[in-house]
Amino acid sequence: KTCILIGAPVDAGQKVAGCIMGPAAYRTAGLMRALKDLGHDPCDAGDVVPAERRPLTTTNAAVHSLPEVVAWTEALARAGQDAMKRGMPIFMGGDHSLSLGSVAGVAAHAAEVGRPLFVLWLDAHSDFHTPETTQSGNLHGTPVAYLAGRSGFDVFPPFPAAVPAENICLFGIRSVDPEEHAALLTHEIEINDMRVLDERGVVAPLREFLLRVEAAGGLLHVSLDVDFLDPSVAPAVGTTVPGGTTFREAHLVMELLHESGLVTSLDLVELNPFLDERGRTARLMVDLVASLMGRKVFDRPTRVFA
Ligand code: ARG
Ligand code: MN
Ligand code: MN
Ligand code: MN
Repeated sequence: KTCILIGAPVDAGQKVAGCIMGPAAYRTAGLMRALKDLGHDPCDAGDVVPAERRPLTTTNAAVHSLPEVVAWTEALARAGQDAMKRGMPIFMGGDHSLSLGSVAGVAAHAAEVGRPLFVLWLDAHSDFHTPETTQSGNLHGTPVAYLAGRSGFDVFPPFPAAVPAENICLFGIRSVDPEEHAALLTHEIEINDMRVLDERGVVAPLREFLLRVEAAGGLLHVSLDVDFLDPSVAPAVGTTVPGGTTFREAHLVMELLHESGLVTSLDLVELNPFLDERGRTARLMVDLVASLMGRKVFDRPTRVFA
């Protein structure tokens, strides 16, 4: 597979310093090498440069670094749409606000080729705030609302084609703010919170979603937030939430995604190398990408659709 690594050193979507180092950490941890070793054809497109900043304001005075985040959104959407024509974009973040741009670019491409877009959100958080509802002001908590077509994003570029709620799957969720909770109740978004994963495991809910993607002939964007994982295995993140997925569960999710053959774009977000322990989180993320791209201990026949 042609993989296009896109550096997105975005840190304006939250207030803990360090996400700017994310792309460098993925390069240092050997993401290119891992993809090559699997027989893929990766190319490193370097770091995206944000568009020109314009003075912008919103009614919610809490919102942090709005001009920066809008500028990143514009540039990353362009980079994403362009990369989709050539292969599979892998966005190396950067905080989760980068997905405002990456998913916008992928959605523009999906609309262009006339295929439905599905989004799998691997995260402790639902990221369903709008710039109007966020209390923290951190725009990394908003991309799911943007891609689902919620209002309140007037200062952002209009989202190309809202992803239907039925095409969005939140997975690993265990931290939802009251405003997000209320809004999620009025949408048909599938929420696999940790309660569901504890009871059913990761395989059944993921397989159900993948079967729907396959039946619809959809494109599948996966957004992997470091805090999807339990902080005991992935400490390098500013928003740790206990009770996350284990090393094994996360690898199994990646292996199932690979076996499905459905993933067409990927975000790696929220890695904060400044908070890491001797690179272990960066290395784990690279290993997870390797599993997603086909690394396995023994090659067994595809099981997702069996
Ligand atoms: N809901 C919280 C907020 O709005 C946390 C968001 C965390 N998002 C993330 N992408 N890590 O501040
Ligand atoms: Mn900041
Ligand atoms: Mn997130
Ligand atoms: Mn998160």
